[in-house]
Amino acid sequence: MASRILTNIKQLINIRKDSKPLFGHELADLPIIEGAYLIVEETEIAGFGKMADLTREHNHLPAEQLNCGGRLVLPCWCDSHTHLVFAGNRENEFVDRIRGLSYAEINSRGGGILSTVQQVHAVSEDELFNLAWRRLREVSLLGTGALEIKSGYGLSVEDELKILRVIKKLKQKSPMAIRSTFLGAHSYPMAYRENHEGYIRQIIDDMLPLIAKEKLADYIDVFCEKGFFSAPETERILKAGLVAGLKPKLHSNQLSSMGGIRTGIKLNAVSLDHLEVITEEDLQSLGTSSWKGFCTLLPTAAFFLNLPAPPARKLIDAGCALALASDYNPGSSPTGNMNLVISLGCIQMNLLPEEAVNAASLNGACAMGLGDSCGSITNGKLANLIITHPIPSLAYIPYAFGSIHIDKVMIRGEFLSQ
Ligand code: NIG
Ligand code: FE
Repeated sequence: MASRILTNIKQLINIRKDSKPLFGHELADLPIIEGAYLIVEETEIAGFGKMADLTREHNHLPAEQLNCGGRLVLPCWCDSHTHLVFAGNRENEFVDRIRGLSYAEINSRGGGILSTVQQVHAVSEDELFNLAWRRLREVSLLGTGALEIKSGYGLSVEDELKILRVIKKLKQKSPMAIRSTFLGAHSYPMAYRENHEGYIRQIIDDMLPLIAKEKLADYIDVFCEKGFFSAPETERILKAGLVAGLKPKLHSNQLSSMGGIRTGIKLNAVSLDHLEVITEEDLQSLGTSSWKGFCTLLPTAAFFLNLPAPPARKLIDAGCALALASDYNPGSSPTGNMNLVISLGCIQMNLLPEEAVNAASLNGACAMGLGDSCGSITNGKLANLIITHPIPSLAYIPYAFGSIHIDKVMIRGEFLSQ
């Protein structure tokens, strides 16, 4: 792989010396160089600066040059919450919701998550891999360079491991940076609806030891929600995960507020995700605790389910570190398009474009432990880059929300073929 140089970049966006996560009002600061160059060596960012300083600082320029006149260059999106290993679709439920059924009602009738569980059970590991591989390619062309993927559509030892092994294979074969999360506690499987203890024991005694042995996950997650896992059940499962070496994340406050935030803070969770339904007391816990995790908001999921938008501005005022992610899954967000995520973050949550971009790149990277290698234009980080079409400004990206603004994507120093 040769070194190459991008020249005449209209704006080089999100340049940073260090990779500390951004809290509260720090999110509004998005450092930019106007009229820039950027040098890539092998897989990494090896230098950048103002065009005017280029010849003075570099005697031997790389032979391969790309003139980026009129274009913006940004670090690739870092999508810290997806469920993209799944089989089948749920457009039938989409129509049921249009006719008046709620997401919670569909789940309690055995549809929803459990219908995807059946479809995952019916396919082989290879088929599941191929489906996920296609989705990875799709989101990479939309600018995603790093992502987290959860299990949670298996709900049995055999099928949870099948999904986690698919994620492990994706990690090995894809140039994207991928992190893996065990979400065995996504729902109670049909056979354990009246026997919560039995399923929790299966997670703790049967799944976790195998996952730890095969090193199949980096994180553990629980869907803490009415009709799913209570706060005490969530705490018990996350603690067992910690013992197995998995850091906690939570699906919390998506449909109701039932103690997930307190539990997450108590266990020092890496992130609390969703947060559509938040009480004053929850906000206060977030604002006053010394917890340093991320509040991961999922605008496309809130939009698709017609949920209230999370109070992003209040979270910022409370000093929280926001991340934005796609939640790519067949039930609540059948898209992994981070450009749309950013638009909806601005349109529905009143985030400034700078805040949304930071939340979807540097903070997203930090929310999956990839802050040292992804999420900003920093020397030594992976050359994961978005090169836009010629566009007038950064704000144009979330503003013109229905159009594709990405011309090229580079992952680990290589341009993706279109
Ligand atoms: O993050 N809410 C829990 N899990 C997913 C949706 C799962 C599904 O409906 O298949 C979410 O929204
Ligand atoms: Fe999710």
